[in-house]
Amino acid sequence: MDHIQALIDKLEAESRLSREEWITLIEGRSPNLAEYLFEKARKWQHRYYGNNVFARGLIEFTNYCKNDCYYCGIRRSNKEAQRYRLTKEQIMECCQIGYPLGFRTFVLQGGEDGKFSQEELEDIVRTIKDNYPDCAVTLSIGERSYESYLGLFQAGADRYLLRHETAEGNHYSRLHPPGLSAENRKQCLRHLKEIGYQTGTGFMVGSPGQTAAHLAQDMMFIRELEPHMVGIGPFIPHHGTPFAKEAGGTVELTLFLLGLLRVMLPGLLLPATTSLGTIDPKGREKGVQAGANVVMPNLSPTSVRKKYELYDNKICTGEEAAECRDCLEKRLGKIGYRLAVSRGDYKEEKLCTM
Ligand code: 5AD
Ligand code: FES
Repeated sequence: MDHIQALIDKLEAESRLSREEWITLIEGRSPNLAEYLFEKARKWQHRYYGNNVFARGLIEFTNYCKNDCYYCGIRRSNKEAQRYRLTKEQIMECCQIGYPLGFRTFVLQGGEDGKFSQEELEDIVRTIKDNYPDCAVTLSIGERSYESYLGLFQAGADRYLLRHETAEGNHYSRLHPPGLSAENRKQCLRHLKEIGYQTGTGFMVGSPGQTAAHLAQDMMFIRELEPHMVGIGPFIPHHGTPFAKEAGGTVELTLFLLGLLRVMLPGLLLPATTSLGTIDPKGREKGVQAGANVVMPNLSPTSVRKKYELYDNKICTGEEAAECRDCLEKRLGKIGYRLAVSRGDYKEEKLCTM
């Protein structure tokens, strides 16, 4: 226990561990050690962001996808999925509902849907920024060319989420069909950072075949990339995918990794994800208490909510945006946090002044 605890201290002091040290730490974790870690994580969380948890309004604007990732419920081959696309007007309505609720970030997330042209996407970004100049726009629309990322940035997009999913090439191939590679994914992330986006990466916890060595590699990749945001959540099987019968990830390991991420890169924007809230009714609260400081309630019209089903039993598919917002505010209040009405940009420096 002591030598493992010392690894947490080392991570805090040096912000780096070797591959072997990561594996020892991840494999040697225990409930006591987790408590030790979470205390440190909360200390850093408070130094950078106080007790603020930032809300991002998630707009799932298309569930068409050209990709066929083995874990994902909206993969091309899932013929059961009922496909939809929101119009620009519907997307603007989501923002109209979200703004008075206090959202100052809109996240446009979708499958890799070729029907939206570069021009259309740029036009949507520009229109949101024109109408809501005090809001940030985050895109989460997959792998694209450097030029496309650049065009969207110039149209006003502030942030981009693209989880690397797993940093290890063979494991990447276990999760994705041929044609998709960890290398290309990482290249996209480097492009996004270079262009100037606040960039988010991340991975699923407990995806099929994942080992402590893979997680070590994920942590090391994140350390090198130095993203502004990292989204991690448990893998949850979806009945209409090749991974239907695989085991899901655990709350316990997800929380431990959230704590490690906060201690390694203390200024991170770190969501307590919907998938964490799906496998445990208190999952998001536990995530915040392990170091997370972002929540991403849904602003999509309730009529399409159930259709954006990446995994089974996803929560909040029936609730209106206002209900989720109030529910989260109450839940956070109970554990001593507040839902912040601000853009919630990444901070280079510690010391919370909010
Ligand atoms: N379980 C958990 N997370 C999933 N994602 C996709 N499918 C699943 C699943 N079955 C995650 C991926 C993707 C993000 C939008 O959702 O990490 O990047
Ligand atoms: Fe959606 Fe609680 S956050 S109902």
